[in-house]
Amino acid sequence: MQGSNDEHAGRDETASHKSQIGGMAPEDFRTLGYRMVDYLCDYLQGCGERPVLSRSAPGEVYAAMPDAAPERGLPDARGWDEVFADLERIVQPGLTHWQSPHFFGYFPCNGSGPAILGELLSAGLGVQGMLWQTSPACTEVEMRVMDWMADLLGLPDAYRFDRSAGRGGGVIQGTASEAALIALVAARRRAVDRGADPASVCVYTSEQAHSSILKAAMIAGLAMDAEDRSRLRLIPTDAQHAMDARALGDAVSADVAAGLVPCFIAATAGTTSAGAVDPLGASAAALREADPACGDAVNPRGWLHVDAAYAGAACVCPEYRGMLDGVEHADSFCFNPHKWLLTSFDCDCFWTSDAAGLTRALSITPEYLRNTASDAGAVVDYRDWQAPLGRRFRALKLWFVLRHFGAEGLRAHIRGHVRLGELFEAWVEADERFELAAPRSLNLVCFACKQAPGEPADAADQRTAALMAAVNETGRAYMTHTKLPTADGGSRYVIRFCPGATGVEEQHVRAAWDLINAAASKLMERPTA
Ligand SMILES: Cc1ncc(COP(=O)(O)O)c(C=O)c1O
Repeated sequence: MQGSNDEHAGRDETASHKSQIGGMAPEDFRTLGYRMVDYLCDYLQGCGERPVLSRSAPGEVYAAMPDAAPERGLPDARGWDEVFADLERIVQPGLTHWQSPHFFGYFPCNGSGPAILGELLSAGLGVQGMLWQTSPACTEVEMRVMDWMADLLGLPDAYRFDRSAGRGGGVIQGTASEAALIALVAARRRAVDRGADPASVCVYTSEQAHSSILKAAMIAGLAMDAEDRSRLRLIPTDAQHAMDARALGDAVSADVAAGLVPCFIAATAGTTSAGAVDPLGASAAALREADPACGDAVNPRGWLHVDAAYAGAACVCPEYRGMLDGVEHADSFCFNPHKWLLTSFDCDCFWTSDAAGLTRALSITPEYLRNTASDAGAVVDYRDWQAPLGRRFRALKLWFVLRHFGAEGLRAHIRGHVRLGELFEAWVEADERFELAAPRSLNLVCFACKQAPGEPADAADQRTAALMAAVNETGRAYMTHTKLPTADGGSRYVIRFCPGATGVEEQHVRAAWDLINAAASKLMERPTA
């Protein structure tokens, strides 16, 4: 009897010991944690050797996995050998290596050591920051980091919690798409509060705006599908691909004349295709002219949101802040540190100068979330600043990034990449086979094969597309494309080259240029320069 009691006691002790790390023995967690960090160290140091674009065929990864979850779990840390083996066998071949220094596609998705550690810590602490009360540090570290970040970008004090007396402030959203959605919903609420019929509100953005603005309108019920223009206006762009201020003004006036209510303009600072910057001051002026009776804090006009998802990061350098001219008229602004500021996905910094307007649109308080601090209005509850209820402690990774690199390190990171963009631009300009398809924007270079005299535009497009495919095929570089409007009302196929991966250096850009050069020579049957 005694013996069996002892046996039970032993089992209980083992069970509670194991539960210390959520069902994993502490020594196993340590062993595997170190092993995972080693795995990542090796991966991040070596991913430049792997083919950048995954060569996986559709369905290949899916088929490599069993059709049912395992019935029995792993006994201990050694059992994880098979997990690590599967990472190599199943996962790695299905990865496109965004952290490779040979990745020049889309916009980058920067990661960094401190950001990864912040992610790990956030997962480990496992807190939910939906209310201030559910983890005060989760809210207040974020508030402070967002205040710092506003200053680092040279944004107005109206976006800081401390210097706006709480009228404004910042919050971390998952993505710029979510930021656009909540800004739009706040804009609509503002218009309705001022007496507008919700069915009459209109939204404006440029033809070059990111699709997330259209999607926000679709989700908010202001567009039934991506083609619905009944309440969404896509404003034409100028020769630089920026929103045409006059066309915007005309569209707004026409809607006012038709009895509609212009409620939201989404301007872009750094468009996805070519990095163009819309005129922010003129956008605000269009909203003011739409309703001359408004324009102050008591009687605000329509809402101006600035989407600087990519290019906003460059504003850590004072010399690039020209793109923010007029931002003092904006009601909200966002950019993604997860694109170009060394912070792993997901991290979108969103600020508004009208926090009350935002929370009026998003706040809802069921009984089970009531608490003294919230009821007293003494705290920020970030659940009222976003679409979901729950939220991770994302501020940790941004805090670590800021502390590790410092403002100085972030500026050096941006300037280094812009220098690489300039270098690449100079090579394109010096080669008679190519031309810039748009002015370089920071480190984004859009280029294409020159159209030969008498050659149809389609043929030049096909050559550009074939060039890109040939380079990507090598696995030694990866670029993506877009189409840019042309003066004759058509469009042109162009390659976007964006040296923005965390580890990219001049040698990688040179290697990519050599590949482009070789592929072009083959396509155009000329000797390699
Ligand atoms: C200008 C711009 N806005 C928005 C987005 C969407 O970003 P997210 O994935 O954070 O929603 C992008 C993505 O590239 C972008 O370039």
